Amino acid sequence: MKPRAYITRRLPQAAIDIVSAACETTLWDDEANPVPRETLLRAVADVDGILTLLTDRVDTELLAAAPRLKVVANMAVGYDNVDLPALTARGVLLTNTPDVLTETTADLVWALILAASRRVVEGHRLIAAGGWTTWSPMFMVGQDVHGATLGIVGAGRIGSAVARRAVGFGMPILYHNRRPSPSLEAQIGAIPGAAIRYAPALDDLLSAADVVVVLVPLTPETRGMFGAREFALMKPTSVFVNASRGPVVCEAELIEALKRGRPWAAGLDVFEHEPIGADHPLLALPNVVLTPHIGSATVATRTRMAVVAATNLVAALTGQPVPNPVNRVEVKGEGRDGGT
Ligand code: GLV
Repeated sequence: MKPRAYITRRLPQAAIDIVSAACETTLWDDEANPVPRETLLRAVADVDGILTLLTDRVDTELLAAAPRLKVVANMAVGYDNVDLPALTARGVLLTNTPDVLTETTADLVWALILAASRRVVEGHRLIAAGGWTTWSPMFMVGQDVHGATLGIVGAGRIGSAVARRAVGFGMPILYHNRRPSPSLEAQIGAIPGAAIRYAPALDDLLSAADVVVVLVPLTPETRGMFGAREFALMKPTSVFVNASRGPVVCEAELIEALKRGRPWAAGLDVFEHEPIGADHPLLALPNVVLTPHIGSATVATRTRMAVVAATNLVAALTGQPVPNPVNRVEVKGEGRDGGT
């Protein structure tokens, strides 16, 4: 008998085909809206695997509703929507979709760096409001990006891709991780003209960088990592970019800091509580550029992510090597009758 799978959103057909070929598949056939919680809890009652998105909370309640569950294939690189210790304790495998979104997400980080530094959105809004009357010497002046010092907090795969692009802008790079990364330094250092240095202390990076980019995963250690104290350490000309997860930043404190002009501007793709509405206080500030959590959102990359998630799911349920496991568990048996 084929294993049973549930897909929590209508995905690109290529991904659905991969799952359907190997599994009895049910899906929440809506692209725009997440599956309602009650529907999800009922739908997983007899499934062996679920393909989830970051809008789905995978917690002990869901695990209790899915006694046969063997694998959760999350279509994202991040998995803070998943209670990983609970999955591991139950022997449920978690997979994610790294690598395929690295370059696309780095591009979006650069869109935010450039837009926030050069007041791109503010300028657009000004023209749309009929506010452009003349050219004047200090009209809409921003901050230079080329030659500025880039500080990357959480320099993993995406951070490295951001750093590679920075070399083209002639930017010296500082990075802060828990430990230095000789492979990152070798990779970037091999690019002619590159300068990269490890900052063991976050505070030193914050006070030296002109552009601070946050790319850490959301964990208990990184929750609230950036607040009033950290913003006060930054330069009054600095630009702050967050493309990781909203709760890494204390948003209320960022808003106050932006009002005081330190950081000078911010580019944000993620928020404490998503989605945010038109009445969000960040939108009242002229010095912010906001995007709706679209770091990996290109046609090609979202399609690849769906295919990778589908491939992980099927591999786990058919006893094949799983390309992107997050935790170490033994997936027991193959298909419906092999479960516990
Ligand atoms: C998106 O935010 C992801 O984690 O892939």
